[in-house]
Amino acid sequence: MTLQQNLDRAATLALPGLAVIDGKLVPAQSGKTFPNTTPRDGTVLNQVAECGPADIDAAVKAARASFEDGRWRGKPPREKKKIMFRLAELMERDFEDLALMETLDMGKPIRDSRGFDIASAVNSIRWYAEALDKVYGEVATTPAERLSFIVREPLGVVGAIIPWNFPLHMACWKVGPALAAGNSIVLKPAEQSPLTALKLGELALEAGVPPGVLNVVPGFGESAGQALARHMDVDLIAFTGSGEVGRKLMVYAGESNLKRVSLELGGKSPQIVFADAENLDEAADAAAWGIFFNQGEVCNAASRLLVEASIKDAFVEKVLARAGAYMPGDPLDPASTAGALVTEGQMKRVLSYVDVAQKEGAKLSLGGKRVRAESGGYYVEPTVFDNVLNTHTLAREEVFGPVLGVIAFKDEDEAVRIANDTVYGLASGLWTANISRAHRVSRKLRSGLVWINGWDACDITVPFGGAKQSGFGRDRSLHALEKYTELKGISVTYKV
Ligand code: NAI
Ligand code: MG
Repeated sequence: MTLQQNLDRAATLALPGLAVIDGKLVPAQSGKTFPNTTPRDGTVLNQVAECGPADIDAAVKAARASFEDGRWRGKPPREKKKIMFRLAELMERDFEDLALMETLDMGKPIRDSRGFDIASAVNSIRWYAEALDKVYGEVATTPAERLSFIVREPLGVVGAIIPWNFPLHMACWKVGPALAAGNSIVLKPAEQSPLTALKLGELALEAGVPPGVLNVVPGFGESAGQALARHMDVDLIAFTGSGEVGRKLMVYAGESNLKRVSLELGGKSPQIVFADAENLDEAADAAAWGIFFNQGEVCNAASRLLVEASIKDAFVEKVLARAGAYMPGDPLDPASTAGALVTEGQMKRVLSYVDVAQKEGAKLSLGGKRVRAESGGYYVEPTVFDNVLNTHTLAREEVFGPVLGVIAFKDEDEAVRIANDTVYGLASGLWTANISRAHRVSRKLRSGLVWINGWDACDITVPFGGAKQSGFGRDRSLHALEKYTELKGISVTYKV
């Protein structure tokens, strides 16, 4: 579709603004709404229910009632699967609308909404639907007079709090396995990007997910999010977002009912390029894509580029030559490879890191400025800093924008030391043709994911999550089911 066709279709979209609670589309009990904006041009898209503690409580009660009477978890697996497949089909039916909503709501280019976000959200729902009757329990090796079996039961009410960088994709990483495991859910989307999660709640009802099983409650973090995380009848908070909020969630859990918490937080992920890499052009493609994809608003963004000193200058040239391909354009233009940052605040935050990096002595090799300001939107050009030290703020704090820092290293030991010298541990990457080095270094890197000779080799079959302050708990793969279930050991004693 052309830019004009996207604009025409966007103008006729029915944007959801009501909460989905107990099978009904409802306003906030207070009647309050908040203006949901688009970073494309800074205008208001629609009014969205500003839910607070009372709405969260209603949603949790509905979720609990649906869990207790077994209307979802008690269904035969085959029926649950059919309903989840139907949900995936409905998401495909409304694929174009979902893609447009995502792009309008948070500013990512439409080609990514289509090619990545919505496609992978559908895949998550379908993958966990397929998996739901393939995970078996265990029989323990007890003496003959006892049979002990170990079953996985759903936890109960899952609170999911998600961010704005991949709104539907992140929602489905959580909703897919939580539903497949038989839980009931209260999903709180980010206030910056509530549209596709609300639409997901509506589609789930249409697909036959019973009322109360998937509630979607939009609102702000401090009110709705906090109320969910402090609720005495929520069994788990599954979170993706900032470390700052992750810490609060653990406090809320400790001060309430000791609910479980799983945290997918940010990173300062290193991508290490050794001089012996087989294909430095591919490595340079990955270096650029790894930081500029999704405007750099990616928890596993390759924000630290570690390059062996002997090839550093030549390699940086290659990266600079590729960076221009990510110059932001209108997010609705199918040709755009980068869009707007999510809010004016996020843009200012990113630009403030550019200032700090310059003051601390890094060399600005490309970009560093706001562009397309006349649109009213929040666009920052691809930015590369050379001569970064790992002690610089740019190398230590998550920027969450299109800003790359290049750090030189002299040998393998130093590369590993710099890579691990961070509080984070989400992802790391390395480029080398030396197979021993590839294995050796991958085992030394402290992160939940390591990608050798290819950045972000993302697949639903591989668990995703971090080490250290990048959080704990895993999304994706069958391991994701672990956090949405509890083990129960049942023993039968009998006469032999
Ligand atoms: P955030 O962590 O505040 O927002 C994520 C979610 O948490 C949203 O749904 C928000 O409403 C909710 N939330 C906020 N405060 C809460 C509270 N007190 N209790 C319960 N829920 C709460 O992230 P924010 O402020 O939007 O972005 C700030 C920075 O966080 C970014 O610049 C980036 O560095 C990082 N971030 C990391 C993400 C990741 O994927 N790991 C995603 C989003 C942000
Ligand atoms: Mg928005």
